[in-house]
Amino acid sequence: VKTFFITCPKGLEPLLFEELTSMGLKGLKQSLAHVELQGSLEDAYRVCLWSRLANRVLMMIDRFPCLKTEQLYTKAVGIDWLSHLSPDDKIVVDFSGMSEMINHSVFGAQKIKDAIVDHVRRKTDRRPSVDKDNPDLRINARVYQDEVTISLDLSGESLHRRAYRLDMGIAPLKENLAAALLWRTQWRKLMTEPTAFVDPLCGSGTLVIEALLMAADIAPGIFRKKFGFEAWKQHDVQLWQRLLEEAEVRREQGLKRTLPIFQGYDIDPTMVDIAEQNLKHAGLENYATFTTQDLFDLKNTTGASKGLIISNPPYGARLGEEKALNELYELFARKTRQEFYGWQVGIFTGNVALCAKIGMRPVKKYKFFNGALPCELFLYEMDEKYFFTEK
Ligand SMILES: C[S@@+](CC[C@H](N)C(=O)[O-])C[C@H]1O[C@@H](n2cnc3c(N)ncnc32)[C@H](O)[C@@H]1O
Repeated sequence: VKTFFITCPKGLEPLLFEELTSMGLKGLKQSLAHVELQGSLEDAYRVCLWSRLANRVLMMIDRFPCLKTEQLYTKAVGIDWLSHLSPDDKIVVDFSGMSEMINHSVFGAQKIKDAIVDHVRRKTDRRPSVDKDNPDLRINARVYQDEVTISLDLSGESLHRRAYRLDMGIAPLKENLAAALLWRTQWRKLMTEPTAFVDPLCGSGTLVIEALLMAADIAPGIFRKKFGFEAWKQHDVQLWQRLLEEAEVRREQGLKRTLPIFQGYDIDPTMVDIAEQNLKHAGLENYATFTTQDLFDLKNTTGASKGLIISNPPYGARLGEEKALNELYELFARKTRQEFYGWQVGIFTGNVALCAKIGMRPVKKYKFFNGALPCELFLYEMDEKYFFTEK
C-alpha cells in the first residue's frame, strides 16, 4: 500500500472524491485541492487513465519535518533516487506551499534538484539534467506546516490535457472543468437513456466531447501519448498494458451501445472547424455533429423528448457589451423554453447577473472556478413552474 495525492482544482474535491469512489477505490480522504488515496500502483494507474476530474496523481516517496532550510537538502540527498530514476534522466522539480523557513518556491525546487543531482553524481559519476518542458521524471515537493512531502508525479503533464484537443490559442474550458460541470447535471443518468445532448454555443466542443466520452465509457487518458510514470524505474509495463487493453475493450463496447444524439452549434465557423477537428482526433467523428448556426435559429432536431442542453456563453465585461450579452442570455432562455420542453438546461457563466434576467428560476446553482475566475453553473428544468413569463 502506497500513499497517493490526487490533485484537482480547488472546489472540485467532493466531486473527485465521488468519482474515485465510483471507480471502486477505497482508502480515500478528501483534503484541500486533492484527495488522498491509500492504495496500490494499479489504483494509481487506473486514476491516471480514467479520472475525468483529476489534475495529477502524486506518489509519496518521503515525508520529513523541515525546521531549517538546510534540512531540505540534507534529507532529500538521502532519498534513494536511483531506485526511481536513471543517471542520465531529465528531471524537473515542482515545489509548492510555504513555511516560515522556506518561503520561496524557486529556492525550494533548486535545493531538491541539487540534492537529487548530488546524490546521483556521488553514486554514478553521472548527473541528471533539468528539462522543464519535456522531463522524463517530474518530482513534486510540497511544504506544509514545517513538513515536506516528496512525491513522484505519475501523471506527468496535467491529466486535464486529454490530447484530443488542438492547441489553437483560444481560451476554451479545461476538459476536467467541463467534466465537473457535467458531473453536477443529470447527465450520468440521462446518458443511459434514449436522450440527446446539445451545446448551442459550443466553441471548440469541449462539453460535447466530454459528454460523449462519458456516455461511451471511453477513458479520458486513452488519447495521451505520455504519462509521468513511463520513465520511472519501477514502472510496471505489463500492468499498464493490461489497463490500456481493458480501456480499449470498454471503448469498443461503449461505442456499440445505442448512444444519445450529440450536437454542437456555434455562430463562428472557425470554432465549428476546431470542434470537428477535436472530435476527429478523439476518433469520434461519427458520433456527434458540429454545425455553424446562430442561436437565433436553434431548433430541437434531435427527436428526443429528454436530454441536456448546456452552454458556456460569452460573458466578457467590456464596455458596451452588457446589452448584447443580456439579449443573448435572454434568447438562450427563450429558445430552450420553446424548443426543449422537458429537458434539463445548464448555463455556466462568470457573470451571474446575466442569468438573473432571463425569466427562469434555476433549480440548482453551483460555484466553480474557471482558472482564477469565480463562475457559476445555473441548472434549470424546462417546465412551466419555473418560468416567470409566458412561453
Ligand atoms: C465562451 S465560448 C464557449 C467555449 C466552449 N465551452 C469551449 O470549451 O470551447 C462562447 C461561444 O459562443 C459563441 N457564440 C456567441 N454568440 C453566439 C450566437 N448568437 N449563436 C451561436 N454561437 C454564439 C462564440 O462564437 C463562442 O465560441
